[in-house]
Amino acid sequence: MNLFDVYPLYDIEPVKAQGSTLWDTNGQKYTDLYGGHAVISIGHTHPRYVQRLSDQLNKIGFYSNSVQISAQKELAERLGRVSGLPEYDLFLVNSGAEANENALKLASFHTGRTRVVACTKAFHGRTSAAVAVTDNPSIKAPLNFDQHVTFVPFNDVEAVKTAITEETAAVIVEGIQGVGGIHVATEEFYQAIRTRCDETGTVFIHDSVQCGFGRSGAFFTFQHGQVLPDLITTAKGMGNGFPVGGVLISPKFKAKHGLLGTTFGGNHLACTAANAVLEVMEEEQLISRAGHLGTQWMKALSEIPGIAEVRGQGLMIGLELEKPVGPVREALLRQHFFFTGVAGGHTIRLLPALNVAESDMHRFVEALRSLLVG
Ligand SMILES: Cc1ncc(COP(=O)(O)O)c(C=O)c1O
Repeated sequence: MNLFDVYPLYDIEPVKAQGSTLWDTNGQKYTDLYGGHAVISIGHTHPRYVQRLSDQLNKIGFYSNSVQISAQKELAERLGRVSGLPEYDLFLVNSGAEANENALKLASFHTGRTRVVACTKAFHGRTSAAVAVTDNPSIKAPLNFDQHVTFVPFNDVEAVKTAITEETAAVIVEGIQGVGGIHVATEEFYQAIRTRCDETGTVFIHDSVQCGFGRSGAFFTFQHGQVLPDLITTAKGMGNGFPVGGVLISPKFKAKHGLLGTTFGGNHLACTAANAVLEVMEEEQLISRAGHLGTQWMKALSEIPGIAEVRGQGLMIGLELEKPVGPVREALLRQHFFFTGVAGGHTIRLLPALNVAESDMHRFVEALRSLLVG
């Protein structure tokens, strides 16, 4: 059997990892400034994480959601405290798309409505409702086009106010558009959404899958401002590589047995991984570190000639180059051994672990300068 060939692959196989360092099959060392696509939050193979997961695996790895699983309660309590949202409930899932799928369903159950407002350039995942609110027709199958979605330009206050009506079930927005090229939602945009949702009884869903879990320097990006969404979705950095996601649900939603469900969501290992991530984030004060290091790094990067714009917040950074990004990323990887991400034809995406070493960030600035300036 062959693998279904949907991913363009590098000819590199990392076989060992520690912190922000990867080693391939030839022993070549790389620095990971991509965090395996914003997933590695506390660094690869963090000793606390490895210990916690190994201990749990030696006790019990899985049982269904029909029994008591105290790791789930521990996670809900800890996540509520660390995120500053103790009054929200938690529904646990396995991925970002599944989190958004369930959030959209909850909004529709709650309002009895079917229409959704989303943003141009948005990415929310590849399952049915999540891909319908994603602004990329090339990844939608014919059956995904049946849903009622209105796309408005990201950060366009007037457009979002007009689009949200008494028929809208939900508005879904990323705090920082990731796939769309690292664009940060403005406070005015958040405020307009909140106000209009309150006027029309619409549910405000904040997709924090990529920008959440401390990456921006706040636990969630909307916490840089004054608004509170009704549903908040999270995944990626939540498990540091173990598949786990969640929907944080405001008290206005009432749970009912059977309303939502999943076999694997909230399993012992996933909860243990997420608990270990939160413990390390608290102990190593990684959220505030992400905030101040990100600011320093963005300043240093913006001083490099050849970079048209530096965008982002904390350790979610987009570098829009004046020239096409492909050859530059290739040189960063092959000559300087840095893994980076990309968005579109001109933007490098940096999504490192929140405890990435300052020395790695300095080396990257110098490597990029040498490639862009010569
Ligand atoms: C903002 C956002 N939402 C949702 C998703 C989907 O997450 P997953 O790939 O875990 O389904 C992604 C993935 O890149 C994302 O960036």
